[in-house]
Order: sequence, then C-alpha cells, then structure tokens
Amino acid sequence: MMNKLYKSDFLVIGSGLAGLLFSIKASEHGSVNLVTKSTLAESSTYRAQGGIAAVVSNEDSFEAHIDDTIRVGAGLCHPDVVRSFVTSGPRVIDELTRLGVEFCRNTSEHAYDLGLEGGHSKRRVLHVKDHTGQDIELALITRAKEIENINLYENHMAVNLFARNNRVYGAYVLDVNTGEVERYTAKATVLATGGAGRVFLYTSNPDVATGDGIAMAYRVGATVMNLEFVQFHPTLLYHPKIRSFLISEALRGEGAQLLGPDGTRFMPKYHPDAELAPRDIVARAIDHELKRTGAEHVWLDISFKDASFVKERFPAIYKTCLKAGVDITCEPIPVVPGAHYMMGGVRVDINGQTDVKGLFAIGETACTGFHGGNRMASNSLLEASVLALNAAETASKFINGDTNSYEIPPWDPMDASDSDELVVLSHMWDEIRRIMVNYVGIVRSNKRLIRARNRIGFLAREINQFYWDFKITPDLVELRNIVAVAELIVKMARMRSESRGAHFNKDYPNPSDQAVDTVLRKGYEPVPN
Ligand code: SIN
Repeated sequence: MMNKLYKSDFLVIGSGLAGLLFSIKASEHGSVNLVTKSTLAESSTYRAQGGIAAVVSNEDSFEAHIDDTIRVGAGLCHPDVVRSFVTSGPRVIDELTRLGVEFCRNTSEHAYDLGLEGGHSKRRVLHVKDHTGQDIELALITRAKEIENINLYENHMAVNLFARNNRVYGAYVLDVNTGEVERYTAKATVLATGGAGRVFLYTSNPDVATGDGIAMAYRVGATVMNLEFVQFHPTLLYHPKIRSFLISEALRGEGAQLLGPDGTRFMPKYHPDAELAPRDIVARAIDHELKRTGAEHVWLDISFKDASFVKERFPAIYKTCLKAGVDITCEPIPVVPGAHYMMGGVRVDINGQTDVKGLFAIGETACTGFHGGNRMASNSLLEASVLALNAAETASKFINGDTNSYEIPPWDPMDASDSDELVVLSHMWDEIRRIMVNYVGIVRSNKRLIRARNRIGFLAREINQFYWDFKITPDLVELRNIVAVAELIVKMARMRSESRGAHFNKDYPNPSDQAVDTVLRKGYEPVPN
C-alpha cells in the first residue's frame, strides 16, 4: 500500500516554544505542517519554571547580561552570538506579550517583577510565578490553533529525514495511532525536538526528550557540536514516586540555602557566590557532598522566609512538594542533581541554518555557541525564541528562492516482522540510561568513558539490528535515537582532554589554554584519544 503524502512549505518537528513560535511566524509566508510525537503541550518548555532572561530594566544593561553569559559559559561562548541574542531580548518579550503571555509585574511600580538566578549579576528573569513555561506554551498553542495556514499533527513521530545530495526534502513520520509511516515533504524542514535528558536515568526532562532531532540530523550528515556538555540541574525533588520534578533555581535566587545531611550549609566553602554560583559548580559540589557523606540527597531550605511569600511566588512547587509530604514553608526539601539541558546540539548559525540545505534546527536541539560550556539559567527560553524568529525569516526567504523539488519515495518496510520480544527494548533503554548516569555523569574519567563506549557500542549494534528486522514502533524509534545520542556524547567527551564548564574529567581536572568547540560529522570523524 502506498503511504500517504503530505506537502507544505515548512515542516516543523516538535511543539515546544521554538517549534510553535517558528510556525506562527513562518505561517505568514507559507503553509506549515507541524508534527509532534505526543500531545502538543508535552515539551520541556511546558515544564520551565524559572523564566526567560532579558534586559528590561534601567538598572540592568546589555553589557552586563553579555558579560554574565560569557563568564558562566566557561570560555566557549561565541561572543558575536551572545551579543546578538542578548540584544534581541526586549523584542522577544514584546512578541511573547503580544501573543498573550502575561509576565508578572511588580504591583507597586507596574514594572516587570524580575527574578534572580545563578550567574546573573542583576535581577533579569521575567516569569509567570513558577509556571512560566506552561503559560508560554499554552499561549502559543492557542494562537497556532487559530491560524489556518498551520496544520497540527499530534501523536506523529518523525522517524528519519529524507535527504539527497546534502539537501533535506522532508521526513518519514510514524502515525502512532495507525502504525503507518507517512511522507511529509517540505521546502524547509525544521527540527525543534528539544533536548535529550532521557538519555540519563535521572532528569528533569519530560519523557519526550530523547534527542530525536540530533540523531536524525546526524544521520543525514549535519554537523553536531559540543554534545559532551550536559547540564545537570542541582535540585530535583528526591522522592520515590514523583520523578523528574524540578525545584527552581529561583528559590535560591530568593535566598534558599543548600544543607548537607547534618543540616549545615556547604556551598560557601565551594564558591564565593555560594548557592548562586554557576550551575556546574553547584551540581559538582552536591555530587561531592553526596559521595563524601554517603547520603542519598541533600536539603534545600527556604522555610525561614515568610510563608505567604513562598506560597504566592512558588505556588506549583509548594503544591507538588506538599503532595510529596513536604511543606516547604516549614521544612527543608530533599533534593538531588539530574540531567537538565543539552548545551550541545546540531550546529547552526544565528538563523538556525544547519550545514545541510533545507534543514534548520532551533531550540535545545540546536547549538549556536550561545551557552558555551555551561548555560546560564533562563537563557534557554531566550535563545529558543530568538532562533525561532530568526529562522522563520531566513527559511521564508529560502523557500521563495527554492526551485528544487524531490518526490520522497514511499517508505519501504522491507520484510520487517512484528517483534515478539518488545520487553527487551525497555531493558536496553534502562541499561543505556544507567550506563550514562554512572559513567558519563557529573564527574567523568577516561576509564569510565571507555567502559561507557564499549557497552553502548554493543547496545547500538543490537538496536540497529532490531530496527532492520522488526516493524518500527514508537519505543524502537526513540531507543534508536537515544543510543545514537549516547554514543555521540561519549565520543565527544573522549575528544575533550580537559575539564571545562559542565564537562569534568578527573584525569584532566583543569581547563586547557585554548577553548575549542568539539564537532563531529558522519563519515568525517577524528579518532578520539
Ligand atoms: C530553574 O527554574 O531552575 C530552571 C531554569 C533554567 O534551567 O533555565
């Protein structure tokens, strides 16, 4: 049977802030098909608590935001990109406000109420209490649904991009409800699939964050960059049942303190900025305290603040912790670090263009050099917004000048059969995530990385065999992407003979004199040391 063929000017894969904002803007210039593998709102954006960093106050300046971003980025930020994105901050806030996001205002002066987070020298985080991402996501979904030129396809999972001669023409997409693989052709294809936190066992990310865009782009020959830089958020709620719940850094911005198992504060001995030191330093300090004491978690305490302030400023965190049996207004919260954000991704310019024609990457999927080796809190929603706006403009020009077309051939399932052993997939998934957290986590070493490479390499070969032998399922598609991204993270971590930002290797504990990006492209891979 011939599988269905859908045509549009733009194909967008993913429905977080980047994918939706791109679609809304690009729809002014052409038709958009947006596919997302779960429901529209299931995205990392929806979970973002802290907010979006931008210079909107007279007490702040672009120069200060630029300096902070570069200092926290551990020598790897691209200064021209930082300048361009930081100075676009006010434009982004205007755009999001116009689309219906109501950032909190300071009741007395009516100016924006600005939060403080690690690395920022000024209060500059615009927020909607502690559910900023949720409000942004819902506002954008509402707007996208109103636009006739946008078709939204939920439960549609991209399997592979279709490329010929270094040019992408669209993608094969699995309709999760019917099990059929359909063809989506487009003049410009945009990857906005988010990050890959699910490659690790402990993460703040939603289930959908399986690195799909990075894996698909790499398979068609796009360059990937700096994937060894995985940011671990210092404070996820430690609870046997409530998984992946973030306790926002904004609590530390309001004075919350980290305490060891014996109740004493430990951050001042690690960094002069204590709890508001850059994230890599706080996460490593907690890791060190956990290993030193043998404890399973540390504590985060905000109970000394006025209870009504805490409930008003952090309503979602207050309610979720209460469900977990912790009243944050009168007792400390048990917390552990977990994988949170990929600084690396598909290499793009400031307009989201990859080095494969017709292929764009935006949001956490992309790597522009903005975050360097360590992202400053709340800079990611800023980057995702600027990239989406820039990419919409550039892709619209691209489709106008495009005379190329290529009919994607029908999907060929070959003689794949139904697997009778689907449970094996979940075992492999679990194995990869454990290997990554044990050997490629906050503290790495050469031995651990080699061990990870050998084990993951073995699993990758098995998973590939599954992919060719059996009919594809959503789990298999994700597993194939997860193992591909895990292999890339390990490869790139082995290529970096130094410690810098979020990448710490005990065998090379110091940064080298020269900060360079790590890049890989299929078929052009240097031999790691
Ligand atoms: C947080 O609220 O701590 C997360 C903010 C971020 O990762 O940018």
